[in-house]
Amino acid sequence: MSEFVKIAFAPIGAPEDGALVVFVGDDLKPGPRAAKILGEAAATTESAAKTIGFKGHVLTVLDILQPAGLAAGRLLLVGYAPKKDGLPLDFATLGGFVFGKLGETKKATVIFESPGEAWDSAAAAQFALGLRLRAYRFDKYKSKKKNGSEEEKAEPIAATIGVADPASARLAYGACEAVAEGVEFARTLVNEPPNVLFPAEFASRAATLAKLGVEVEILDEKAMAKLGMGALLGVGQGSKRESRLVVMRWRGAKSKKAKPVAFVGKGVCFDTGGISIKPAQGMEDMKGDMAGAACVVGLIHALAKRKAKVNAVGVIGLVENMPSGEAIRPGDILKAMSGQTIEIINTDAEGRLVLADALYYTREKLKPIFMIDLATLTGAILVALGQEHAGLFSNDDELATRLTNSGLATGETVWRMPMGPAYDRQIDSRFADVKNAAGRNGGSITAAQFLKRFVAETPWAHLDIAGTAMSSPSNEINTSWGSGWGVRLLDRLVADFYEDRAAP
Ligand code: BES
Ligand code: MN
Ligand code: ZN
Repeated sequence: MSEFVKIAFAPIGAPEDGALVVFVGDDLKPGPRAAKILGEAAATTESAAKTIGFKGHVLTVLDILQPAGLAAGRLLLVGYAPKKDGLPLDFATLGGFVFGKLGETKKATVIFESPGEAWDSAAAAQFALGLRLRAYRFDKYKSKKKNGSEEEKAEPIAATIGVADPASARLAYGACEAVAEGVEFARTLVNEPPNVLFPAEFASRAATLAKLGVEVEILDEKAMAKLGMGALLGVGQGSKRESRLVVMRWRGAKSKKAKPVAFVGKGVCFDTGGISIKPAQGMEDMKGDMAGAACVVGLIHALAKRKAKVNAVGVIGLVENMPSGEAIRPGDILKAMSGQTIEIINTDAEGRLVLADALYYTREKLKPIFMIDLATLTGAILVALGQEHAGLFSNDDELATRLTNSGLATGETVWRMPMGPAYDRQIDSRFADVKNAAGRNGGSITAAQFLKRFVAETPWAHLDIAGTAMSSPSNEINTSWGSGWGVRLLDRLVADFYEDRAAP
């Protein structure tokens, strides 16, 4: 994995060159140690602040070049007055903001000291996570880099974070770095073009998790046919590219036999819509229709890398949805692994077919505590929630509440949507047990009702991430098209509720 920023923790000190980053409160004063380092330069900053009306608000910066009395070539005074601004500001966002201000400056020293209350090692680690997530780029297919040079890689930015206790910050950052890698892995999978990342290639990339101690099993079409996965295989049958199902197992709990938590991902490497073909406008975005599967791979990476004390499985269904003489038609009836028959109304409602078999397989073969699926399942969820929340559907109130809280804690927020028998009736079929599409109204809900028919009693949550995982609006910690959404959310869920704890 290439690095775009090199992060180090060190004792607080003045840098010899590059940029110096200092936090100031609404009185424009830094903390005591930063004040000492600034020394006489503080006078310059005061008049500079006056000149441009810098007030120290959160997510604002005063950028001073060649500050008098400092060896550093650049001084960034970063506002931090969250109480006055009434903003709860998380440190990852702050780190992302600071990285975004560095521009072409290749070396930065951050005095990680609060102008007000004390900041601990966990805060420093989150700050570093934000730096790293903001630094991510996907430019491997650009033959000329941004600055016009043809060099293979731009030099990574070297960021030194000055803290009171570097050893403990480094320790805390270890887990954050594992999560950052997982997010980056997911982003790259989503960003990759569909001619490169087809199902078998996706499966090989998932197989690289073996180096972290993850057991990876890949089922090809023959193996899936033997299991009776007619729904998943139906979606893939119009494509030249063979379908795959990948099962990733991380056994980190004390008891290797303890029931696992399970994550299931929709991995449609490209969704043309099939015979019910999509309009040309924006169809290129459907390379991201495997973002659910990408998140699952990124999450298992994160859990394994930070040696999470949990047994976790990831199951991803990988297919390509193409129109061809071999493709499924509207009117076809498929038989899923569960034995249920499915009438195809619209071949573009393919994600639920893939998940029907992946969820049933997970529940029957892996017997998890719960299963959470992630899928870019419906355009309707964008209509309902925009790009700010993922849609949450669940048959289990406790799991739903936990997901909601992990969302608030990480900023990857979810919004629970209703389900119920009246919606369920809308997917009854005249000819088969169930049909794969109902009317336009409540499209995300009827999709979730379809999944629920393959879940039975297992505690389950479905996250519709069509709005959050791809074509993402930039924010302080993400400028990538594929956001890697869900890795931080689910890592947090596992960390807070499902890992072995030391006996009290
Ligand atoms: N992959 C799409 C959903 C999607 C749309 C994801 C926009 C990301 C952005 C999914 O397979 C799909 O085509 N859903 C249909 C369902 C309909 C045919 C019942 C939709 O949302 O229109
Ligand atoms: Mn579709
Ligand atoms: Zn799709």
